[in-house]
Amino acid sequence: MHLENYFAKRTNWQLAENDISTSLKCLKQKEKVIDLSESNPTRCGFKYDNIISRALSNKKNYLYEPNPKGLHQAREVVARYYREKGIIVSPDDIFLTSSTSEGYSFLFRLLLNPGEGIFLPQPSYPLFQFLCDINDVESKFYQLAYEDNWRIDFNSIENNLSGNTRAIVLVNPNNPTGSFVKESELASLNNVCQKKNMAIICDEVFFDYGFDKNDKKPSLASNRESLTFVLSGISKILALPQMKLSWIVVSGPKELKDEAIKRLEVITDTYLSVNSATQNALAHWFKVKNSIQKQIMQRVLKNYELAKKEMNSEIGDLFNVEGGWYVILKIKKEANEEALCLELLEKEKVFVHPGYFFDFNHGSHLVISLLPEPKDFSLGIQRIAKSLS
Ligand SMILES: Cc1ncc(COP(=O)(O)O)c(C=O)c1O
Repeated sequence: MHLENYFAKRTNWQLAENDISTSLKCLKQKEKVIDLSESNPTRCGFKYDNIISRALSNKKNYLYEPNPKGLHQAREVVARYYREKGIIVSPDDIFLTSSTSEGYSFLFRLLLNPGEGIFLPQPSYPLFQFLCDINDVESKFYQLAYEDNWRIDFNSIENNLSGNTRAIVLVNPNNPTGSFVKESELASLNNVCQKKNMAIICDEVFFDYGFDKNDKKPSLASNRESLTFVLSGISKILALPQMKLSWIVVSGPKELKDEAIKRLEVITDTYLSVNSATQNALAHWFKVKNSIQKQIMQRVLKNYELAKKEMNSEIGDLFNVEGGWYVILKIKKEANEEALCLELLEKEKVFVHPGYFFDFNHGSHLVISLLPEPKDFSLGIQRIAKSLS
């Protein structure tokens, strides 16, 4: 049977499980594996203070009040989150979505005709290619280059600009490099976007997890220079990915912003995808923001220190991290990343992601989550160090 005759070409993905996933699944059935790819906060032992069951018993959940932007009181909570950062955002400029991925899809549909292009950072996180495929968008890449810190390589943007590139995606801070967009980079990006009529889509899901609290980084929610859409949500901010609530903040020159809001409203009105219970619970859940973020920051900073202690220049370089939940090890001896991950799994019972999952296109890298419990993290890092020495 010609299965491909039944399906849209955009879904012609490589669907077979890769060797790493197969080995991990088999091994996990037999013995304990230290999973240093774990970035699901609900599996990392954080305390949530029983917030979910209490919030869901709210009587308001029996009422359905559809609103294409999401319930006003929930958008007020999001506006307050920005106000506390010194950024004034009107609830009218906020759209609630059920996930950040859904937010990307809505924006791709808003901004791009089929076949038009979007700039994506490289390295970055693996979902982008699927989001582009599903929305008939052509992915183009710009590079993040590492010297002592990560920076945007503007040549890779300038050399690749063509008439049909409609938007540039920033991840602030980026997953997995942990790098924030700098003020000077934002000024240059605004320049390019104004010249080429491009919009900015800025994913700030990890924004609150900057390592240096004294070094205030700019959120693009206050960017008025270009048409800008900031994506964020409670999957990282409150470490509640299972509750499925994210948002888009629209900003930019007034005429453009107003038009974007009117058009986006038609898209979100077609789906009305955010459930009422989550929206009604949002104010209550935000009360645990400081407690949950404090636990996570303590965890990632502690694990980052443990990683720095175990690794040395004979093994490789740990890239400097400005924020987020990951650290990257660049291995000194070039090795096939997949073979190395399989070896670590089979011999050391430690699982880490290979760099190529995140589109590192030269050198050998391992991407390590900083979320696991420190006793597991420390043992896992020691085993990696031993194996690579
Ligand atoms: C940078 C980034 N954006 C978005 C997401 C997904 O967020 P959501 O669960 O809200 O779709 C992830 C998930 O890891 C991520 O790393």
